[in-house]
Amino acid sequence: MTAGSRILAMGHYQPSRVITNDDLASTLDTNDAWIRDRVGIAERRVADGESVADMATFAAEKALATSGLTASDIDLVIVATCSAIDRCPNVATRVADRLGINAPGAFDVNTACSGFSYALATGDHAIRAGASRNALVIGAEKLSDITDWSDRTTAVLFGDGAGAAVLTAVPDGEPAGIGPVVWGSTPEKGEALKIAGWQPYIKQEGQAVFRWATTALAPFAIEVCEKAGIAPSELAAFVPHQANTRIIDGIVKRLGLSPEAIVAKDLVESGNTSAASVPLALSKLIERGELPSGAPVLLFGFGGGLTYAGQVVRCP
Ligand SMILES: CC(C)(COP(=O)(O)OP(=O)(O)OC[C@H]1O[C@@H](n2cnc3c(N)ncnc32)[C@H](O)[C@@H]1OP(=O)(O)O)[C@@H](O)C(=O)NCCC(=O)NCCS
Repeated sequence: MTAGSRILAMGHYQPSRVITNDDLASTLDTNDAWIRDRVGIAERRVADGESVADMATFAAEKALATSGLTASDIDLVIVATCSAIDRCPNVATRVADRLGINAPGAFDVNTACSGFSYALATGDHAIRAGASRNALVIGAEKLSDITDWSDRTTAVLFGDGAGAAVLTAVPDGEPAGIGPVVWGSTPEKGEALKIAGWQPYIKQEGQAVFRWATTALAPFAIEVCEKAGIAPSELAAFVPHQANTRIIDGIVKRLGLSPEAIVAKDLVESGNTSAASVPLALSKLIERGELPSGAPVLLFGFGGGLTYAGQVVRCP
């Protein structure tokens, strides 16, 4: 048993192909002003041949290179995704194979947009229990595969990408860098956002999901802080799931952050990348030098199914 784990390094990957709102408006009855006003997205990145496993591998490769560890140090790979087309082999084993990680525990987690926080908690719990020493935790999505590009109510929302974290056990006597998880679901409303069937498209009741996100979730985000023993006003940043700026602003209003706290709004340039959105946004903030080592950050994922999860982490 160890006292916990921390994030050693992060990495991310986004495809180079950019689709702007004006690009979408050339084939759909929509426009830039509506999308920016109602959702907050200006453009999204869409895979150009890359698979979920490709994007997960590229993000993990970067995280591993920054961490100072090598593939032989990793004994657990967890990938959060809801858009992998193949059910077996899972994405985690494909990433392990590509990175030359020998015989790791390897599994995928599917709780859609809250997936990264579920996977991060699971990696942390494995390290605490002694089942892993160093883990790779990845959120990766190719939502363009399951987006109906002729449906303006969903096509304007989603994008592709991946973010990854390398976790390691904290030495005895040092504080844990990943706080307790609060995770949950609202199963009775699960059908409001679904990816169902064999060749599915994402389907949602937009207003029902919006209402749930803006009314039900803030208390859970506050509970995450309570469990971590930190006041929201002490957070350096809030990195929520990147679905809609109006949803993010609604949660922020009820949180009580300090005016200096950074609120991630990566969706403006990336769209909603489901399980990838939180690690993607966090990795970019760290890469840009906006969050110093040790800075406390509230992660909070929510969405499809309907599920949510969050924890406070310390930046690498
Ligand atoms: C999807 C969402 C942006 C729609 O915004 P909204 O303000 O609820 O819009 P409505 O569904 O009420 O539609 C309002 C009007 O805009 C129209 N509209 C819908 N999509 C449009 C688009 N892309 N461009 C232009 N008009 C659009 C509707 O047809 C409707 O027209 P009408 O008034 O003539 O009937 C919003 O409900 C939302 O963000 N929901 C949460 C979805 C989400 O984040 N899902 C992922 C969570 S993980």
